[in-house]
Amino acid sequence: MNKQYGHFDDRAREYVITDPATPWPWINYLGTEDFFSLISNTAGGYCFCRDAKFRRILRYRYNGVPMDDGGRYFYIREADGTVWNPGWKPCKTPLDSYECCHGMGYTRIRGRKDALDAEVLFFVPPGRRCEVHKVTLTNRGAAVREFHLFSFVEWCLWNAATDMENFQRNLSTGEVEIEGSTLYHKTEYRERRDHYAFYGVNAQADGFDTDRETFIGMYNGFDAPQNVLAGRPGNSLAHGWSPIASHCFHLRLEPGESRTLIFVLGYVENPPEHKFAPDGSIDKTRAHELLEAFDSTEKADAAFAELGRYWEGLLSRFQVESGCPELDRMVNIWNQYQCMVTFNMSRSASFFESGIGRGMGFRDSNQDLAGFVHQIPDRARQRILDIAATQFPDGGCYHQYQPLTRRGNDGIGGGFNDDPLWLIFGTVAYIRETGDFGILDEPVPFDNAPGTEVPLLEHLRISFRHVTDNLGPHGLPLIGRADWNDCLNLNCFSDNPDESFQTTENKTGGSQAESLMIAGLFVYTGRAFAELLGRIGQDAAPVLQAVEDTERAVRENGWDGEWFLRAYDYFGRKIGSHENAEGQIFIESQGWCTMARIGAEEGLCDRALDSARRLLDSEHGLVLNQPAYSRYYIEYGEISSYPEGYKENAGIFCHNNPWIIIGEALAGRADDAWEHYCKISPAFIRDQRLHKVEPYVYCQMVAGKDAARPGEGKNSWLTGTAAWNWHTVTEFLLGIHPEYDGLRIKPCLPAQRFPEYRVHRHFRDADYDLTIRNTGRGGSHFIPYSPGYHQLTIEL
Ligand code: BGC
Ligand code: NOJ
Repeated sequence: MNKQYGHFDDRAREYVITDPATPWPWINYLGTEDFFSLISNTAGGYCFCRDAKFRRILRYRYNGVPMDDGGRYFYIREADGTVWNPGWKPCKTPLDSYECCHGMGYTRIRGRKDALDAEVLFFVPPGRRCEVHKVTLTNRGAAVREFHLFSFVEWCLWNAATDMENFQRNLSTGEVEIEGSTLYHKTEYRERRDHYAFYGVNAQADGFDTDRETFIGMYNGFDAPQNVLAGRPGNSLAHGWSPIASHCFHLRLEPGESRTLIFVLGYVENPPEHKFAPDGSIDKTRAHELLEAFDSTEKADAAFAELGRYWEGLLSRFQVESGCPELDRMVNIWNQYQCMVTFNMSRSASFFESGIGRGMGFRDSNQDLAGFVHQIPDRARQRILDIAATQFPDGGCYHQYQPLTRRGNDGIGGGFNDDPLWLIFGTVAYIRETGDFGILDEPVPFDNAPGTEVPLLEHLRISFRHVTDNLGPHGLPLIGRADWNDCLNLNCFSDNPDESFQTTENKTGGSQAESLMIAGLFVYTGRAFAELLGRIGQDAAPVLQAVEDTERAVRENGWDGEWFLRAYDYFGRKIGSHENAEGQIFIESQGWCTMARIGAEEGLCDRALDSARRLLDSEHGLVLNQPAYSRYYIEYGEISSYPEGYKENAGIFCHNNPWIIIGEALAGRADDAWEHYCKISPAFIRDQRLHKVEPYVYCQMVAGKDAARPGEGKNSWLTGTAAWNWHTVTEFLLGIHPEYDGLRIKPCLPAQRFPEYRVHRHFRDADYDLTIRNTGRGGSHFIPYSPGYHQLTIEL
């Protein structure tokens, strides 16, 4: 039996970690609107408001040694000098028991030592800009227990990037204020900032510290703060250097007695005219309101119950009972949850994304929509309009935009020629879910410039045209800087290690580099676009013509004999062909061209899927390409910079396995589809140590068969994998397709394993309870939309 670090508790919708020394910090996210936190199973991590780079509240050191040091720590200092933490870290004093439950928007950590129970519940109350830390200490022993409790957080000086590099300034700017038991962080508030943070508690503390060096000591670590060891707070006032917030309580518990303290870690923005109190200190009115909102256990509990209702409301919109617990827990809980996290975070802040580099991706955000549109259609609508407003008049796009300003930026490049098509993909997903054709009339500017507004529909048209305006010599779409595969940089020819492949010069002039992935995506979304145009009474013929032309180009110039080619390079030479020495077959074009059913009648799709299975499949999923590149190819770019089996060079990209699964489902090959699904679904992970990252969410990449440790996961949480697996499992395996006028039921699951299953689907103003008898015969059943409650049994 492989070592297990935890298990699912489906009824509580929790993942329960029972060993704190997980192979990598296993994290959770708190927050629902604009205040968000990352929290590991030992309480590491940080929080921010709206923007992980510019409004970072807690300091965090990525890639530190030891890993994941810093967070919100509670230290218990016993009378005999022993110091321990309920979450084991940072002191790592052995505990008698430890448990961390990551739930929907909350994390509960419990530690017990010598009959003292310490439980900390961390959550962000809906609608509030704060973390609540509900600490409950219970003496389960027979004797009176006296001890000190210390809280601890370390402030980030707001800009997470300069906080890590501009020390000549930073070490002089830190400022705090103290009022009762509330410790305020107000660095830079005197000048241009209108925001501050605070850490308060609903009881009179016996002391505090706000200066890190006083609290920890110059030569100590988080695991041995000198004031904790001494059992004595320093009541320090930080001036520059590194401000922190720590409370100290001297507690005494009778046998059986319990004490609960509610800590609030909050963030406040003040209007300019209310920045300061008459005495020149910060205006604390809003902080007082926030503290008062959680100044009793009852109030904290009520907010926690509200959080539970919030998640119940979101998750209950799609529920399945399939008879397969792994499938059920992914669909009902974790896959939906992860989709909401990608909505909130995009690719900005995780334990693999530092929160300072990447804003919201144009491509990523559109794909993410398919994962959460059924949960939060209104917010999905706004997201589409925000994204579209960053587009250029010629249909091209910034590759990302910053959530704080909603403006595009080229921090990670531009000119990726697949980008525009994702706007069609996302908008179609939204309208199918909601029936809201009105969004197409919304005026949306270009590059956020006032006065340039055109209806959203025009943005879709120019997105489509951006492809037809940029065709290469084989009649296939030009790739631009790259397509979905950011690392297939066919026009870059970089020999300078000091430049990024994503942003360096891109020699598109004269390039013949074409993409079969974009071709498949174009045919697939083009058909959907044509259907949409037909729906609103517009002429779809030119769109269908362009789609047909591309299909022909793929059949004539994109078929390698047993599979679809991947691309043509700058010079017009094949990539992803049996003629190549390495990189003979790629997953992306097999996925998209089979999703688009190009050449299906001639058997191309079945053959491409067979080839993918034969050449790309492995124990842990389908790898991206084979054979992996074993050296750097200047004409291919970043893909060949990765060692074999990692990332885009033959890693298992869990993001694009679903494209093959959809291809299999559309080909009616249920067994193959299911097998591919199981290999990448976290619920089926057996070897948690090998997998390393969280076993409850998808990761972007699992090391491929050429890697040193095939099966080792990386880059968990923030990945299009969440949305794609959701889209795939709900629509193509369980077969519940939202269409403009209703739901189409078209399952593709092995009939023997899934003879019958039930789905609850909330759809617009209707609720459907469906029993699906899955005979495996194929076919589909259409349920016209009508508001109200419907119970149906469907045999297919
Ligand atoms: C990664 C890609 C990522 C790109 C853009 C590359 O280094 O391998 O997965 O999309 O950077 O940030
Ligand atoms: C991660 C990026 O966020 C995504 O946009 C890209 O498609 C994949 N990497 C593949 O390169």
